[in-house]
Amino acid sequence: MTKFIKIVAATALLVSSALAAEYTIKLTHVVSPNTPKGQGADFFAKRVAELTGGKVEVVVFPNSQLYGDGEEMKALKLGNAHIAMPSFSKFTSLVPEMQLFDLPFLFRDKDHLYKVLDGEVGQIIRDKVSAKGFIALDYWDAGFKHMSSNKKAILMPEDAAGQKFRIMSSHVLEAQFKAIGANPQVLPFSEVYSALQQGVVDGAENPLSNFYTKKFNEVQTDLTLSGHGYLGYLVIMSESFWKKFPADLKPKVIQAMKEATAFERKAAATDDDDTLAKIKEYGKTSGKLAVHELTPDQKVAWQKAMEKIYPQFYKVVGEDLIKKAQAVK
Ligand code: LMR
Repeated sequence: MTKFIKIVAATALLVSSALAAEYTIKLTHVVSPNTPKGQGADFFAKRVAELTGGKVEVVVFPNSQLYGDGEEMKALKLGNAHIAMPSFSKFTSLVPEMQLFDLPFLFRDKDHLYKVLDGEVGQIIRDKVSAKGFIALDYWDAGFKHMSSNKKAILMPEDAAGQKFRIMSSHVLEAQFKAIGANPQVLPFSEVYSALQQGVVDGAENPLSNFYTKKFNEVQTDLTLSGHGYLGYLVIMSESFWKKFPADLKPKVIQAMKEATAFERKAAATDDDDTLAKIKEYGKTSGKLAVHELTPDQKVAWQKAMEKIYPQFYKVVGEDLIKKAQAVK
Protein backbone atom coordinates (compact mmCIF):
# COMPACT_ATOMS: atom_id res chain seq x y z
CA MET A 1 0.00 0.00 0.00
CA THR A 2 1.30 3.45 -0.81
CA LYS A 3 1.49 6.02 1.97
CA PHE A 4 -1.33 7.97 0.23
CA ILE A 5 -3.70 4.98 0.16
CA LYS A 6 -2.80 4.20 3.78
CA ILE A 7 -3.70 7.73 4.83
CA VAL A 8 -6.98 7.67 2.84
CA ALA A 9 -7.89 4.30 4.39
CA ALA A 10 -7.00 5.52 7.88
CA THR A 11 -9.01 8.70 7.40
CA ALA A 12 -12.03 6.71 6.18
CA LEU A 13 -11.79 4.51 9.26
CA LEU A 14 -11.58 7.52 11.53
CA VAL A 15 -14.50 9.29 9.84
CA SER A 16 -16.73 6.22 10.22
CA SER A 17 -15.81 5.78 13.88
CA ALA A 18 -16.09 9.49 14.59
CA LEU A 19 -19.75 9.33 13.55
CA ALA A 20 -20.51 7.45 16.71
CA ALA A 21 -17.83 8.64 19.12
CA GLU A 22 -17.13 12.16 20.37
CA TYR A 23 -13.41 11.60 20.79
CA THR A 24 -10.96 9.44 18.93
CA ILE A 25 -7.67 8.10 20.25
CA LYS A 26 -5.31 6.91 17.51
CA LEU A 27 -3.10 4.10 18.77
CA THR A 28 -0.18 2.97 16.65
CA HIS A 29 2.07 -0.09 16.99
CA VAL A 30 4.39 -2.12 14.79
CA VAL A 31 3.59 -5.75 15.59
CA SER A 32 0.88 -8.20 14.60
CA PRO A 33 -2.55 -7.94 16.33
CA ASN A 34 -1.94 -11.54 17.30
CA THR A 35 0.89 -10.76 19.77
CA PRO A 36 0.47 -9.89 23.45
CA LYS A 37 1.01 -6.20 22.59
CA GLY A 38 -1.52 -6.37 19.76
CA GLN A 39 -4.05 -8.14 21.95
CA GLY A 40 -3.44 -5.66 24.77
CA ALA A 41 -4.04 -2.75 22.40
CA ASP A 42 -7.33 -4.24 21.17
CA PHE A 43 -8.42 -4.97 24.74
CA PHE A 44 -7.67 -1.36 25.70
CA ALA A 45 -9.80 -0.13 22.79
CA LYS A 46 -12.69 -2.33 23.86
CA ARG A 47 -12.50 -1.24 27.51
CA VAL A 48 -12.29 2.47 26.65
CA ALA A 49 -15.46 2.14 24.57
CA GLU A 50 -17.22 0.28 27.39
CA LEU A 51 -16.09 2.57 30.20
CA THR A 52 -16.96 5.77 28.32
CA GLY A 53 -20.26 4.46 26.99
CA GLY A 54 -18.96 4.82 23.42
CA LYS A 55 -17.98 8.47 23.84
CA VAL A 56 -14.33 7.67 23.21
CA GLU A 57 -13.19 5.42 20.41
CA VAL A 58 -9.68 3.98 20.23
CA VAL A 59 -8.64 3.18 16.67
CA VAL A 60 -5.73 0.74 16.58
CA PHE A 61 -3.25 0.76 13.70
CA PRO A 62 -1.06 -2.38 13.98
CA ASN A 63 1.82 -3.72 11.84
CA SER A 64 3.52 -0.32 11.24
CA GLN A 65 0.43 0.46 9.13
CA LEU A 66 0.64 4.16 9.85
CA TYR A 67 3.96 4.68 11.60
CA GLY A 68 7.02 2.45 11.85
CA ASP A 69 10.10 2.53 14.06
CA GLY A 70 11.36 6.04 14.59
CA GLU A 71 8.15 7.57 13.26
CA GLU A 72 5.86 6.72 16.18
CA MET A 73 7.31 9.18 18.66
CA LYS A 74 7.39 12.00 16.13
CA ALA A 75 3.73 11.30 15.31
CA LEU A 76 2.86 11.57 19.02
CA LYS A 77 4.77 14.83 19.32
CA LEU A 78 2.87 16.26 16.34
CA GLY A 79 -0.43 14.94 17.67
CA ASN A 80 -0.97 12.80 14.54
CA ALA A 81 -1.14 9.69 16.74
CA HIS A 82 -1.95 9.64 20.43
CA ILE A 83 -0.74 6.41 22.00
CA ALA A 84 2.18 4.14 21.10
CA MET A 85 3.99 1.36 22.88
CA PRO A 86 7.53 1.30 21.50
CA SER A 87 10.00 -1.27 22.75
CA PHE A 88 12.68 0.00 25.13
CA SER A 89 15.40 0.06 22.46
CA LYS A 90 13.39 2.55 20.42
CA PHE A 91 13.83 5.13 23.19
CA THR A 92 17.63 5.09 22.83
CA SER A 93 18.09 8.56 21.34
CA LEU A 94 15.36 10.11 23.51
CA VAL A 95 16.40 8.61 26.86
CA PRO A 96 19.76 6.79 26.55
CA GLU A 97 19.38 5.42 30.10
CA MET A 98 16.55 3.24 28.80
CA GLN A 99 19.26 1.03 27.29
CA LEU A 100 19.53 -0.41 30.79
CA PHE A 101 16.80 -2.84 29.81
CA ASP A 102 18.75 -3.97 26.73
CA LEU A 103 21.68 -5.20 28.82
CA PRO A 104 22.04 -8.97 28.25
CA PHE A 105 21.23 -11.21 31.20
CA LEU A 106 20.11 -8.26 33.36
CA PHE A 107 16.94 -9.93 34.59
CA ARG A 108 17.07 -13.23 36.44
CA ASP A 109 13.45 -14.05 35.61
CA LYS A 110 10.02 -12.44 35.10
CA ASP A 111 9.57 -11.89 38.81
CA HIS A 112 12.79 -9.88 38.98
CA LEU A 113 11.83 -8.04 35.80
CA TYR A 114 8.46 -6.86 37.12
CA LYS A 115 9.92 -5.82 40.45
CA VAL A 116 12.42 -3.64 38.58
CA LEU A 117 9.88 -2.17 36.15
CA ASP A 118 7.19 -1.52 38.74
CA GLY A 119 9.64 -0.27 41.37
CA GLU A 120 12.06 2.62 41.79
CA VAL A 121 14.13 1.92 38.66
CA GLY A 122 11.05 1.78 36.45
CA GLN A 123 9.86 5.08 37.93
CA ILE A 124 13.23 6.77 37.33
CA ILE A 125 13.04 5.79 33.66
CA ARG A 126 9.40 6.86 33.38
CA ASP A 127 10.29 10.28 34.81
CA LYS A 128 13.00 10.69 32.20
CA VAL A 129 10.52 9.93 29.42
CA SER A 130 7.98 12.35 30.93
CA ALA A 131 10.65 15.05 31.01
CA LYS A 132 10.89 14.68 27.23
CA GLY A 133 7.27 15.66 26.77
CA PHE A 134 5.36 12.37 26.80
CA ILE A 135 2.86 10.93 29.23
CA ALA A 136 4.60 7.74 30.36
CA LEU A 137 2.04 5.10 31.27
CA ASP A 138 2.64 1.39 31.92
CA TYR A 139 5.24 -1.21 31.08
CA TRP A 140 4.10 -4.01 28.78
CA ASP A 141 5.79 -7.31 28.09
CA ALA A 142 6.95 -9.18 24.99
CA GLY A 143 9.25 -11.70 26.64
CA PHE A 144 12.84 -12.80 26.55
CA LYS A 145 14.67 -12.70 23.22
CA HIS A 146 16.18 -15.66 21.44
CA MET A 147 18.80 -15.91 18.69
CA SER A 148 17.98 -17.22 15.25
CA SER A 149 19.98 -17.72 12.08
CA ASN A 150 19.81 -19.09 8.58
CA LYS A 151 23.49 -19.99 8.53
CA LYS A 152 23.91 -22.58 11.25
CA ALA A 153 22.94 -23.63 14.76
CA ILE A 154 24.14 -21.10 17.30
CA LEU A 155 24.94 -23.00 20.45
CA MET A 156 28.07 -21.27 21.66
CA PRO A 157 28.85 -17.55 21.31
CA GLU A 158 31.56 -18.31 18.74
CA ASP A 159 28.92 -19.87 16.46
CA ALA A 160 27.58 -16.36 15.88
CA ALA A 161 30.96 -14.96 14.86
CA GLY A 162 30.96 -13.43 11.39
CA GLN A 163 27.18 -13.59 11.04
CA LYS A 164 25.10 -10.49 10.38
CA PHE A 165 22.31 -9.83 12.88
CA ARG A 166 19.45 -7.39 12.67
CA ILE A 167 19.22 -5.23 15.77
CA MET A 168 16.95 -2.50 17.02
CA SER A 169 18.54 0.91 17.32
CA SER A 170 20.47 0.50 20.58
CA HIS A 171 24.17 0.87 21.37
CA VAL A 172 23.88 -1.90 23.95
CA LEU A 173 22.59 -4.33 21.35
CA GLU A 174 25.33 -3.26 18.97
CA ALA A 175 27.97 -3.90 21.65
CA GLN A 176 26.36 -7.19 22.60
CA PHE A 177 26.72 -8.61 19.09
CA LYS A 178 30.20 -7.17 18.61
CA ALA A 179 31.25 -8.88 21.85
CA ILE A 180 30.60 -12.25 20.21
CA GLY A 181 32.29 -11.30 16.93
CA ALA A 182 29.05 -10.83 15.00
CA ASN A 183 28.04 -7.91 12.76
CA PRO A 184 24.97 -6.01 13.97
CA GLN A 185 22.84 -4.03 11.56
CA VAL A 186 20.04 -1.67 12.60
CA LEU A 187 16.81 -2.24 10.67
CA PRO A 188 13.20 -1.24 11.35
CA PHE A 189 10.97 -4.09 12.47
CA SER A 190 8.88 -3.86 9.31
CA GLU A 191 11.93 -4.76 7.20
CA VAL A 192 13.19 -7.77 9.16
CA TYR A 193 11.33 -10.48 7.23
CA SER A 194 12.59 -9.37 3.82
CA ALA A 195 16.09 -8.72 5.17
CA LEU A 196 16.23 -12.30 6.46
CA GLN A 197 14.69 -13.67 3.28
CA GLN A 198 17.08 -11.83 1.00
CA GLY A 199 20.15 -12.50 3.10
CA VAL A 200 20.73 -8.84 3.95
CA VAL A 201 21.20 -10.25 7.44
CA ASP A 202 21.67 -13.86 8.55
CA GLY A 203 19.91 -13.75 11.87
CA ALA A 204 18.02 -11.79 14.47
CA GLU A 205 16.99 -11.75 18.12
CA ASN A 206 13.29 -11.79 18.94
CA PRO A 207 10.77 -12.83 21.53
CA LEU A 208 8.87 -15.90 20.33
CA SER A 209 5.63 -13.98 19.65
CA ASN A 210 7.30 -11.61 17.19
CA PHE A 211 9.33 -14.43 15.64
CA TYR A 212 6.28 -16.52 14.88
CA THR A 213 3.62 -13.91 14.06
CA LYS A 214 5.97 -12.28 11.54
CA LYS A 215 6.81 -15.70 10.05
CA PHE A 216 10.53 -15.42 10.69
CA ASN A 217 10.40 -19.20 11.19
CA GLU A 218 10.02 -19.46 7.39
CA VAL A 219 13.26 -17.62 6.70
CA GLN A 220 15.46 -19.00 9.49
CA THR A 221 16.90 -22.50 9.82
CA ASP A 222 17.88 -22.44 13.50
CA LEU A 223 16.35 -20.97 16.61
CA THR A 224 18.26 -21.11 19.89
CA LEU A 225 16.29 -20.60 23.09
CA SER A 226 18.99 -18.33 24.47
CA GLY A 227 16.78 -15.94 26.47
CA HIS A 228 19.83 -13.68 26.59
CA GLY A 229 17.99 -10.38 26.57
CA TYR A 230 14.61 -8.88 27.24
CA LEU A 231 12.10 -7.03 25.08
CA GLY A 232 9.48 -4.89 26.76
CA TYR A 233 7.50 -1.76 26.07
CA LEU A 234 6.65 1.55 27.64
CA VAL A 235 3.20 2.79 26.73
CA ILE A 236 3.37 6.50 25.98
CA MET A 237 0.81 9.13 25.16
CA SER A 238 0.97 12.43 23.32
CA GLU A 239 1.23 15.18 25.93
CA SER A 240 -0.46 17.84 23.79
CA PHE A 241 -3.38 15.49 23.10
CA TRP A 242 -3.79 14.54 26.76
CA LYS A 243 -3.73 18.16 27.90
CA LYS A 244 -6.75 18.90 25.73
CA PHE A 245 -8.59 15.66 26.53
CA PRO A 246 -11.77 16.19 28.64
CA ALA A 247 -10.98 15.92 32.35
CA ASP A 248 -14.06 13.83 33.16
CA LEU A 249 -13.04 11.12 30.67
CA LYS A 250 -9.38 10.90 31.69
CA PRO A 251 -9.88 8.56 34.68
CA LYS A 252 -11.80 6.14 32.45
CA VAL A 253 -8.98 5.99 29.91
CA ILE A 254 -6.45 5.47 32.71
CA GLN A 255 -8.62 2.73 34.20
CA ALA A 256 -8.85 1.01 30.80
CA MET A 257 -5.06 1.19 30.50
CA LYS A 258 -4.59 -0.33 33.95
CA GLU A 259 -6.81 -3.25 32.99
CA ALA A 260 -5.11 -3.57 29.60
CA THR A 261 -1.70 -3.75 31.28
CA ALA A 262 -2.80 -6.64 33.48
CA PHE A 263 -4.38 -8.34 30.46
CA GLU A 264 -1.29 -7.84 28.27
CA ARG A 265 1.12 -9.17 30.87
CA LYS A 266 -1.02 -12.25 31.40
CA ALA A 267 -1.23 -12.79 27.64
CA ALA A 268 2.57 -12.55 27.39
CA ALA A 269 2.99 -15.07 30.19
CA THR A 270 0.92 -17.74 28.46
CA ASP A 271 1.82 -16.84 24.89
CA ASP A 272 5.44 -17.96 25.17
CA ASP A 273 4.62 -21.64 25.80
CA ASP A 274 1.86 -21.76 23.18
CA THR A 275 4.02 -20.09 20.57
CA LEU A 276 6.99 -22.33 21.28
CA ALA A 277 4.79 -25.37 20.72
CA LYS A 278 3.67 -23.93 17.37
CA ILE A 279 7.23 -23.14 16.31
CA LYS A 280 8.39 -26.65 17.22
CA GLU A 281 5.48 -28.13 15.31
CA TYR A 282 6.37 -26.02 12.28
CA GLY A 283 9.97 -27.23 12.56
CA LYS A 284 8.88 -30.85 12.70
CA THR A 285 6.39 -30.77 9.85
CA SER A 286 8.42 -28.56 7.50
CA GLY A 287 11.81 -30.03 8.38
CA LYS A 288 13.16 -26.53 7.80
CA LEU A 289 13.70 -25.18 11.30
CA ALA A 290 15.60 -26.70 14.21
CA VAL A 291 14.93 -25.44 17.74
CA HIS A 292 17.86 -25.69 20.15
CA GLU A 293 17.93 -25.59 23.95
CA LEU A 294 21.12 -24.52 25.70
CA THR A 295 22.83 -26.67 28.32
CA PRO A 296 23.67 -24.88 31.61
CA ASP A 297 27.33 -24.74 30.53
CA GLN A 298 26.44 -23.19 27.19
CA LYS A 299 24.28 -20.61 28.94
CA VAL A 300 27.18 -19.68 31.23
CA ALA A 301 29.40 -19.24 28.16
CA TRP A 302 26.86 -16.80 26.64
CA GLN A 303 26.58 -14.91 29.87
CA LYS A 304 30.34 -14.56 30.20
CA ALA A 305 30.77 -13.43 26.61
CA MET A 306 28.03 -10.82 26.76
CA GLU A 307 28.28 -9.43 30.27
CA LYS A 308 31.70 -8.02 29.37
CA ILE A 309 29.95 -5.06 27.80
CA TYR A 310 28.42 -3.72 31.05
CA PRO A 311 31.28 -1.32 31.94
CA GLN A 312 30.98 0.32 28.51
CA PHE A 313 27.55 1.56 29.62
CA TYR A 314 28.32 2.65 33.17
CA LYS A 315 28.41 6.26 32.00
CA VAL A 316 25.52 6.40 29.56
CA VAL A 317 23.07 4.29 31.56
CA GLY A 318 24.52 5.04 34.98
CA GLU A 319 26.44 2.50 37.01
CA ASP A 320 24.14 3.26 39.94
CA LEU A 321 21.03 2.46 37.96
CA ILE A 322 22.49 -0.83 36.70
CA LYS A 323 23.49 -1.83 40.23
CA LYS A 324 20.09 -0.78 41.55
CA ALA A 325 18.33 -2.98 39.01
CA GLN A 326 20.63 -5.91 39.76
CA ALA A 327 20.14 -5.54 43.50
CA VAL A 328 16.33 -5.82 43.33
CA LYS A 329 15.36 -9.05 45.09
C1 LMR B 1 11.52 -4.97 17.21
O1 LMR B 1 11.78 -3.98 16.52
O2 LMR B 1 12.06 -6.07 17.07
C2 LMR B 1 10.48 -4.83 18.29
O3 LMR B 1 10.67 -3.61 18.93
C3 LMR B 1 9.10 -4.90 17.72
C4 LMR B 1 8.08 -4.76 18.82
O4 LMR B 1 7.52 -3.68 18.96
O5 LMR B 1 7.87 -5.75 19.52
